[in-house]
Amino acid sequence: MTGSVSSRAPHYTLGDWNHKAAVRTGKGDYRLPENLEQQLRSRDWFPSAFIPYTEHPLIQEAGRSIAQRLAANHLVHFLDYTTLLEHRVVNRAVETIVHGELALPIPQPMKTAALQLYTDEGYHALFSNDVAEQVAALYGISDRPSPRRIQRLLGLIDAVTPGDRPLAWFLLGFVSETIIAKELLAITRDTLVCTVYRMLRSHLEDEARHSRYFSEVFQYLWSALDPTQRDLAASMLLQIIGLYFEPDLPWLKRSLASVGFNERSALQIVADVLLPDAHGRRVRSGAVSTFAAMRKAGFFDNEHHRRLFAQAGFIDG
Ligand SMILES: [Fe+2]
Ligand SMILES: [Fe+2]
Repeated sequence: MTGSVSSRAPHYTLGDWNHKAAVRTGKGDYRLPENLEQQLRSRDWFPSAFIPYTEHPLIQEAGRSIAQRLAANHLVHFLDYTTLLEHRVVNRAVETIVHGELALPIPQPMKTAALQLYTDEGYHALFSNDVAEQVAALYGISDRPSPRRIQRLLGLIDAVTPGDRPLAWFLLGFVSETIIAKELLAITRDTLVCTVYRMLRSHLEDEARHSRYFSEVFQYLWSALDPTQRDLAASMLLQIIGLYFEPDLPWLKRSLASVGFNERSALQIVADVLLPDAHGRRVRSGAVSTFAAMRKAGFFDNEHHRRLFAQAGFIDG
């Protein structure tokens, strides 16, 4: 798939940011609606396509209010994850561009866009936390453990020698910013609680711009790396992409336990998530734009890199 990144010359900007970014144009109202109870009769807290386990017969048998509570749990977990990701991962990656940590010249438009993107992510963290707090208060959700993926992403940085960390940070940001956004844009207005829809929509419109920008910066960076750095980047990308599509199984079990499912039922419910090829399938569908940017940069022209990703089941051999 060639995707939108391949059909345009690089600009290294976020386009008309002053008139498009949520932080510049949004009304800042992410309060839950007055008629929430009425909305919940027909609408959901989270797009069911992204939590397919809630379609499991055991949950369907348990009834709508249980499925709805699980979706609320998932929304709060997702928003807590988003808040941390924006601050601790994406904006840390953006710092490597703004502050010249990548040992390559940064054109002024690229730097300006990075500063704008940093602002966007700060706003995303603000409204994600706002909605998470409201939904957590509504249901009395107090069990909000730090999402495992964040810990694992940060652990990956610790495992890299200090001199290679700016590159590792950048790649964490690149992958995060190029996965999924396009698919999520397909969410529909009338099936979600209006506040959640508005928030996801604002976020994702920004992310479509971020995805294009990070794809361009990746191509620019890749062209400047020497063969040794490219090999290192390839092995880091393989790990990073894999991590972004790992399910948080301990959390899922806790969420299911909170509505009364025992260990045995919980394992039945999440069985599909754990199928041997499920991870590879999630990577292939979620990382389409990531792989398109890598392909355009010439990443897969290298036989070794191509084999690495094919062996992992992420691309065709
Ligand atoms: Fe964001
Ligand atoms: Fe972003």
